[in-house]
Amino acid sequence: MRFCPEYSFDKLRRRIVINYQGKRFLDTGAVIEPTTNKAELYQQILEQVKAITFDETDAVANMANISAVLFHAMPDINWAGFYLYKQQQLILGPFQGKPACIRIAMGKGVCGTAAELMTIQRIENVHEFKGHIACDSASNSEIVIPVTLNGELYGVLDIDSPQFARFDDVDQHGLTAVVKHFESTLS
Ligand code: SME
Repeated sequence: MRFCPEYSFDKLRRRIVINYQGKRFLDTGAVIEPTTNKAELYQQILEQVKAITFDETDAVANMANISAVLFHAMPDINWAGFYLYKQQQLILGPFQGKPACIRIAMGKGVCGTAAELMTIQRIENVHEFKGHIACDSASNSEIVIPVTLNGELYGVLDIDSPQFARFDDVDQHGLTAVVKHFESTLS
């Protein structure tokens, strides 16, 4: 039978937990406080991502759940999702947030730049980024992390925030670990 998380409530700790194969994973969306140590938050996010993708090889399903975990666990973001490299361009994949532009040419916008250069783009003020593609006028900063499969571009993970300079080294490190884990589910 496929993994389907069971939710329960830990009365003692007043937390929702996800139960899977005798292991318990915190429901980060329900318990993470904005003041929580960020590195610890990413540890919990990675744990939850590992749990939700456990033994699952369907890439779309995994990207959908990873987007949902990130969107609900990360404070002050308004979009989290994937663009996939298809037909020599980026095409919208699973995401959480408002509807977004569907196709992005290589080298265009923050996503297309990250994809073409195969490097992480961390933009403190997207309005100062030449060619930024505004899908949501509320977005002010953005981080885009390339996803690769066997050394080739597979797509990008894109996170947007209404806060300027929302993403720092800890976010970059934590999100890179999430991407690395997703990549490991592809091969
Ligand atoms: N802002 C991105 C486009 C994608 S949306 O933010 C979801 C860019 O400049 O590539």
